[in-house]
Amino acid sequence: MTQLASGIPLEPPVTPDGPAGRILQHPVGKPQGHYEWVYLWQLPIRAMHWVAAASMVVLIITGFYIGRPYFMTQTLATGSFSFQWMRLFHFVAGFLLIATALVRLYWLVAGNKFERFTALFPVRPRDLKNLWRMILHYSFIDRREIRYIGHNPLQQLNYTSVYVAAVIMALTGLALYGTANPSGLVWQSFAWVADLFGGLPRVRLVHHVLTWYFLVFIPGHIYFVLRSDLYEVGNLSSIINGGKFVEAGHDYIDHNPSATTT
Ligand code: HEM
Repeated sequence: MTQLASGIPLEPPVTPDGPAGRILQHPVGKPQGHYEWVYLWQLPIRAMHWVAAASMVVLIITGFYIGRPYFMTQTLATGSFSFQWMRLFHFVAGFLLIATALVRLYWLVAGNKFERFTALFPVRPRDLKNLWRMILHYSFIDRREIRYIGHNPLQQLNYTSVYVAAVIMALTGLALYGTANPSGLVWQSFAWVADLFGGLPRVRLVHHVLTWYFLVFIPGHIYFVLRSDLYEVGNLSSIINGGKFVEAGHDYIDHNPSATTT
C-alpha cells in the first residue's frame, strides 16, 4: 500500500463498483450509481460570487448602522470616528459590489453555456415552459421531474430578482453618494435616479427597504444550497471548485439540447 509523506498509509481509491472502504480512517458505504463531473462555474463567476457575498454582509451591517447609528452600543455610536468608519466600509463594499456586477455583466456574454445571459434569465421559450412545469411539479400536480445542471427556471427567476434588486441598490446608493458633492461627477450622473423615484427621501426609503429583501434572500439561499447539496452531489462545492457530480445516463435540459424533460 502506498504511503503519504507523513507515513500514513493511503487507502486504495473507492471506485463506483468497488467495495466499501475507508477515507481518512472513517468507514464509507459502498458508492451507488454512476456520476460524471461537470464543470459549470469558471473562476470569474466564483470569485465575483464570494466577493459579492462578503460585500453584502458588510453593506447590510454598515447600512443599518448608517440608518440608525444607535442600534449598536452607545460607545460605538458616539466613539470618536465610528460613524465615518461605517460609512467608509459601506462605500468600499458598495463599489466592490458594483465591480462584481461589471464582471457578471461581461460574463453574461463571455461565459460558458451555464453562465451566459440565456442561462441566467428565464428568457427562452423552453425555460418559460419548464418554469410553469416546475411550479406544477413543486405543487405536487405534475410528477415529472425537470432536470437542469445549471440554474433551473425557478432559480433563474430567483437570481433575476436578486440582480434587479442589486442594480436598484447600486443606483440608489450612487445617487445618495453623489449628494455629498452636488457639482461632482457622481451626482451629475445619477441625479436622474432621484427624479425617477420622486425625490431623495424616497431614494433613501427604497435603499433601506430593499435591504430587507437581501436579509430574506441570503438565509433562504444558504438553506436551499445546503439542502440541494444533500441530493445533488457537490452543489455547494461547485461554487468553490467550479464543478459538481451529476448522475450519468440522464438527459439534462441544459446539457443535452435534444432533451425536453426526463
Ligand atoms: C446590497 C447592497 C446594499 C445594501 C444592503 C445597503 C444598505 C444600506 C442601508 C440600510 C442604508 C441606510 C439607509 C437609511 O438611511 O436608512 C444605506 C445607506 C447608504 N448607502 Fe447603501 N446599501 C447597499 C449598496 C450600496 C451601494 C452599491 C452604494 C454605492 C456606493 C451605497 C451607498 C449608500 C449611501 C451613500 C448611503 C447613505 C449614507 C449616508 O447617508 O451617510 N449602498 N445603505
